[in-house]
Amino acid sequence: MLLRALAKQDYDQIVQVIDRWSGGPTSTLVHPLFFYELGQLALVVERDTQLVGFLFGFITTSKPPIGYIHLLGIHPEFRRRGIGRLLYAKFEEDSRMCGCTTLKAMTTPGNESALAFHKALGFTVELLEDYAGPERPRVVFAKNL
Ligand SMILES: CC(C)(COP(=O)(O)OP(=O)(O)OC[C@H]1O[C@@H](n2cnc3c(N)ncnc32)[C@H](O)[C@@H]1OP(=O)(O)O)[C@@H](O)C(=O)NCCC(=O)NCCS
Repeated sequence: MLLRALAKQDYDQIVQVIDRWSGGPTSTLVHPLFFYELGQLALVVERDTQLVGFLFGFITTSKPPIGYIHLLGIHPEFRRRGIGRLLYAKFEEDSRMCGCTTLKAMTTPGNESALAFHKALGFTVELLEDYAGPERPRVVFAKNL
């Protein structure tokens, strides 16, 4: 497994596979903003040149800054092999270097694998009913560094 910075060819590939990997239409979440403007800390994992995982994360401008994980995706045939854990460990290290004291991420209610993953990595879990607007609940994950 090779962990490295995400490049344009990876971005192009991710927009094509993300709906399949996440089991539904999610390609809008891979907004170009997260590559061109906020992509300096984005990461991929490849095995024998095959893309098997990605993480889009960035550092917020709040004081203190937060390491925010916007998107994490693992190839369905490569799950439960520690790839998500590897990507989060590197992003956590980068976030610490940038002075972050917290990591944060979120998902929609019912995403049980994301819930189990974040709990396993020591994140707190909070269901907030109007987090994304009226009647748009989200599960918010946070971890103190
Ligand atoms: C959630 C997701 C990113 C996990 O990635 P992964 O590489 O399979 O996770 P890891 O192998 O690093 O798992 C680390 C730990 O998290 C937990 N975990 C991960 N997936 C789990 C699942 N489906 N069920 C139960 N526990 C799970 C386990 O404790 C695991 O450790 P273990 O395998 O030693 O028991 C992956 O399932 C995925 O891409 N899902 C679809 C997209 C998505 O939901 N993204 C996250 C949105 S916030």
